[in-house]
Amino acid sequence: MDVEIVGRVLSTLPADDDHPYRTGPWRPQTTEFKADDLTVVQGEVPTDLDGVYLRNTENPVHPALRNYHPFDGDGMVHVVGFRDGKAFYRNRFVRTDGLLAEAEAGGPLWAGLAERPAIAKRDDGWGARGRMKDASSTDVVVHNGTALTTFYQCGDLYRLDPRTAETLGKATWGGDFPFDWGVSAHPKADDRTGELLFFNYGTQAPYMHYGVVDADDELVHYVDVELPGPRLPHDMAYTENYAILNDCPLFWDPELIGQGHYAARFHPELPTRIAVIPRRGGPGSIRWFEAESTYVLHWVNAYEEGEEIVLDGFFQGDPEPADNGMGNKWERAFRFLALDRMQSRLHRWRLNLRTGLVREEQLSDTVTEFGMMNGAYAGRDYRYAYAATGKPAWFLFDGLVRHDLRTGTEERISFGEGVYGSETAMAPRVGSTAEDDGYLVTLTTDMNTDASYCLVFDASRLSDGPVCTLQLPERISSGTHSTWAAGDSLPGWATSDDPATAVGL
Ligand SMILES: [Fe+2]
Repeated sequence: MDVEIVGRVLSTLPADDDHPYRTGPWRPQTTEFKADDLTVVQGEVPTDLDGVYLRNTENPVHPALRNYHPFDGDGMVHVVGFRDGKAFYRNRFVRTDGLLAEAEAGGPLWAGLAERPAIAKRDDGWGARGRMKDASSTDVVVHNGTALTTFYQCGDLYRLDPRTAETLGKATWGGDFPFDWGVSAHPKADDRTGELLFFNYGTQAPYMHYGVVDADDELVHYVDVELPGPRLPHDMAYTENYAILNDCPLFWDPELIGQGHYAARFHPELPTRIAVIPRRGGPGSIRWFEAESTYVLHWVNAYEEGEEIVLDGFFQGDPEPADNGMGNKWERAFRFLALDRMQSRLHRWRLNLRTGLVREEQLSDTVTEFGMMNGAYAGRDYRYAYAATGKPAWFLFDGLVRHDLRTGTEERISFGEGVYGSETAMAPRVGSTAEDDGYLVTLTTDMNTDASYCLVFDASRLSDGPVCTLQLPERISSGTHSTWAAGDSLPGWATSDDPATAVGL
């Protein structure tokens, strides 16, 4: 492995930090690496694996003003690129305006999720509730050959080179970017049309918008989605002809908002409302469906089947887990992040466009979340979903499940005691013809060896274990959202001698 340090960021976190989401598996990094020809610990890098795996992470540089929440940390993107049977690695902080301002100030300036906005040291800021730092640390997608990082509470879209993770700037969409509202995490890049579908939300009417950016990075559609009040949607889905948005009954207590408190409450008496809108439809074309009360953090996929839209995602059996007095203070404080406490299971909603009714079914008894699938089947009938299992009581992924939605069977692996994975992306094999003909790629944080690895599995033979294990330069923080971008979707990838060199962006 050929390793070069390309950057270091000064951290002001305390040496005796005891916050479990800034220590242990969540210990943030301060060093940025450029590593080529990664050391192969086991197996071989498949020669038909060609492209980049990207993962975003909360990676805090400064302590919180008072109470750190795991979603507050600054964004860091990790890239593992594969070409010609070799792999490289890059990690870079997302150079957000907030990161740069706090670097200049030498400490935190904005209030985090577990803090009242009123304690922010600055009057400005980002996020649906305001006066937060847009850490751009939530998700990463690749649209039009450029990586875009996002913030769960709406913010800018930071543009990154998907090979080097270097920040190139912010999306402006020719001046049409909705800077007043920002864009939520989980915009969807539809590789078939070249479009980016997105939504945002806030505390002012109409409380949500939906929009479309075309393959030329122009905003070509932007419509109001009227909601009954401020809501906390996190993800969206799409089919060939429709976009799907949601109004789940877990939202900030509207009376407390006026007093500057943002306290999310679940309302089991209210239905889950799911909106179906033609991808270029106006506000009058939105159709709302009512389903069983829950909160859906992530959808997996959706597609049209006859007069129905089939929508798959994770149904939370307990969106507001009570403090049961079990576990230490951290487990109790962050019980909302534990998959076993939320009881999230793969679920299918069938929205009947003719009758307006919804049929629901649980697809699996296994508690999983953070589902991924072969991107070539996004918006279309598909068979396989790959999802994470969680360490009980913690926001850590301890294993991986391959759900076969046709047979209802599952294949499952555990990463092993003390080893935590990331959201696992599916990378179709070059020239693949079958949906599961490809690889599953994830990054681990291994507390046993104090190291991190990139694991590559054969997507059709998960339980065989990794076909390849690659070592990263240092142990990285545990993290969540990821994506895969095939080499042929990246400008300059195929023609460059060095695929990790920025070309053409
Ligand atoms: Fe998410």
